[in-house]
Amino acid sequence: MPITQRRIEPRTEQRPVESSAPAAPGYPAVRMRRNRKSQWSRRLVAENALSTSDLVWPIFLIDGSERRVPVAHMPGVDRVNIEEAVVEAEKAAALGIPAIAPFPNIDRALRDPTGSEAIKASNLMCRAVRAIKQAVPDIGIITDAALDPYTSHGHDGLLDDSGRILNDPTIEVLCRQALALAEAGSDCIAPSDMMDGRVGAIRRTLDRAGFEDVQILSYAAKYASGFYGPFRDAIGTNATLIGDKRTYQMDPANTDEAMREVALDLAEGADMVMVKPGMPYLDIIRRVKDTFGVPTFAYQVSGEYAMLEAAARNGWLDGDRVMMEALLSFKRAGADAVLTYFAPRAAAILNAGA
Ligand code: PBG
Repeated sequence: MPITQRRIEPRTEQRPVESSAPAAPGYPAVRMRRNRKSQWSRRLVAENALSTSDLVWPIFLIDGSERRVPVAHMPGVDRVNIEEAVVEAEKAAALGIPAIAPFPNIDRALRDPTGSEAIKASNLMCRAVRAIKQAVPDIGIITDAALDPYTSHGHDGLLDDSGRILNDPTIEVLCRQALALAEAGSDCIAPSDMMDGRVGAIRRTLDRAGFEDVQILSYAAKYASGFYGPFRDAIGTNATLIGDKRTYQMDPANTDEAMREVALDLAEGADMVMVKPGMPYLDIIRRVKDTFGVPTFAYQVSGEYAMLEAAARNGWLDGDRVMMEALLSFKRAGADAVLTYFAPRAAAILNAGA
C-alpha cells in the first residue's frame, strides 16, 4: 500500500498510543538502529570492506643520487630515486600491497617534441622496473603508457604543426614504449593517454614479441580533470603542458560515452579497466561494474589526495578517518581495486585490524 494512503488512516479510540511518534510503515516493529547497536553487529551486517588486496600504490621517480624530493602539493608524498624506489617496493610487499605504479619525473633536457626518451630501454622507468623486479620479484609493477612525462609540450601524444594531437602516429610510439617496459619486466601496461585504438595496438605488439601474459589495465574512462594538478607538479608537466587535454580526455559531463570507451577497450583486449578520477566519478565506477562485470579499478588521483591531506594537516578533518571512508566508497561503488597515494598508510591501518 502506498505510504500516503497509510498516513491518512483514521486513528481509533481503542488503539493504544505507546509513542507520540506518528504511525509509520514498519515502525515500531522495524527499527533500523537495532543492527547498528554494537560493533559486533555492525561488522556482521557490513556490505563492503576494504582490504590491502585492493590497493595499488603510485610512486614518483627521479633520476640521480638524491634519494627523496618532496612533492610540494602532496604533503607526505616524495619523489624517489631508483634505490629508494626499491625500498618503497619492499615496504609495499611487507605491508601486503599487491602492486605499485611508478611514474617518472624526466629531466627537462631529455624531453623533446616526440617523447623519444619514452621508448629507450635505458630510461628511468625501465631501469627502475628492472631494479624493483630483481629485488622484489613478487610485487606487481603497473607501468603507464603515455608520452606526457617525455614530451617538451607535456601532451600524451605527438603534435602536428598546428598543435593537433595525432592519434595514429602516437599509437606507434606507445607500442614501442609498452614493449620497452615489458622487456624491462613490467607486469602490466596501463595506457593512460586516451588515444583511440591504442589498447588493441599495444596488445598486438606485446603478443608478437612473446609477452602475451603481460596484462593491460586500460585507463578507459579518463576525464579531462582539474584534479590532476598536483600530479603534474610531481612529474613536472605543469611547467611543460601547452593548452589542455580536452581533445583526448573525456568531458566530465558524460556517462554514456564512458560505457562506449570501456566496451571498446575490452573488445581490443584490455584485462582491466580504470575510471579516473575517483571520488567525483563514483557513478561511472558503478555503471561500468554493473554493465560489464569486469575488473574495474578506480584512481584516487593527486588532487583528491591533496584535498583530504590539506584539510587533515590543517586540523579540519580527521585524516585517517576520511582516508578510510573515501577508500571504502570506491568499494561500495563497485571498484575491485584503487590506485591511491594513501596505500601504505591505509595498509598499515588495515593490518593493525582497526
Ligand atoms: C598522464 C597521467 C596523469 C595521471 C596519471 N597519468 C595526468 C594527466 O593526464 O595529465 C594523473 C594521476 C593523478 O593526478 O594522480 N598520462
